[in-house]
Amino acid sequence: MSDMIFEQVRNGGCLSYIIGCPETHAAILIDPNREQSENYLALVARNGLRVQYVLDTHTHADHFSSSQSLSKQLGVPVIMHRNSVAPFVGLSVDDGESVKLGKLRLNILSTPGHTEDSMCIVLQDRIFTGDTLLIGGTGRTDLPTGDPDKLYDSLFNGILQLAPDLKVFPAHDYRNQSSSTLAQEMATNPRLRKKERSAFVEQMRALDLEMPTHLTEALRTNRSGAITIDQLISDAAAKVSFMSMQELRRRLEAGFKDLVVLDVREGNAYTECRIPGALSIPRGQLELRVNELLPDPTQRIVVYCELGKISTLAAATLHEIGFRRTVALDGGFQAWKQAGYPLAPST
Ligand SMILES: [Fe+2]
Repeated sequence: MSDMIFEQVRNGGCLSYIIGCPETHAAILIDPNREQSENYLALVARNGLRVQYVLDTHTHADHFSSSQSLSKQLGVPVIMHRNSVAPFVGLSVDDGESVKLGKLRLNILSTPGHTEDSMCIVLQDRIFTGDTLLIGGTGRTDLPTGDPDKLYDSLFNGILQLAPDLKVFPAHDYRNQSSSTLAQEMATNPRLRKKERSAFVEQMRALDLEMPTHLTEALRTNRSGAITIDQLISDAAAKVSFMSMQELRRRLEAGFKDLVVLDVREGNAYTECRIPGALSIPRGQLELRVNELLPDPTQRIVVYCELGKISTLAAATLHEIGFRRTVALDGGFQAWKQAGYPLAPST
């Protein structure tokens, strides 16, 4: 019998967990996913809990963890394995240690293999296996820091030696299953049929799996705590105001008056076709050429690029260096052209 408050939250194939101590109301979020942050907080509130820790079972390479942002927001530490390189970890744990959650004890087992920093957590009648053991599968070992030999030990000489009736709660499941048991996995999990080390390792090496969609960026941001490109652009967007294409066109037809239209596209784009009257400073030269080309910091500047993203970054940079009346075009040259708005040289 378990004596805990327990919620499993699914986001596509990713599973996260909220565990609470019914006596003290202390809670932990395990493997939180960026898409579900608000949902966790709602569930925490509904259960009358107070989050004390956020934990990642390993550095995820396939989705964006929200452990860092939730830890900041809630003022609680991120728990990860000692082998994690993420700089935002507040509590590094290792094999054989336990974490107190009110009256509950979360027991840490190092289980490298899927990644070097993978761990499993045993709590009463269940084990949170991260990507070490999945329902009917195991984590892959071909991503950075993966090692099939270590996974073999973590499974056969590690968690599979524990009580067979332990309930298995993994970090991923793609078939809408919510849990299993160690006994069930021993009996039916096809990856565990190869019980010899060499056969198991060979099987893992032979898997030819597609790379996860967000591999590079998820790995980079989860390891470093840095932000995604989307976040970079939306942070920049929050620092500037925008002008619609219609408004710019209206002002252009009125003769601009007190408005510099700045084209930050690179290469020949400007010479080939541009918004009439625009000035060109390619984004790559912006900081080095503003002093020469934009002598008046009180001037109102509208920045545009091809798609509207680089112009947002450029406008934020101009703000930062004192061109406080810079705005970004809401849209880009591509959309301007498609709308049939005026061009130079006229086509
Ligand atoms: Fe993973």
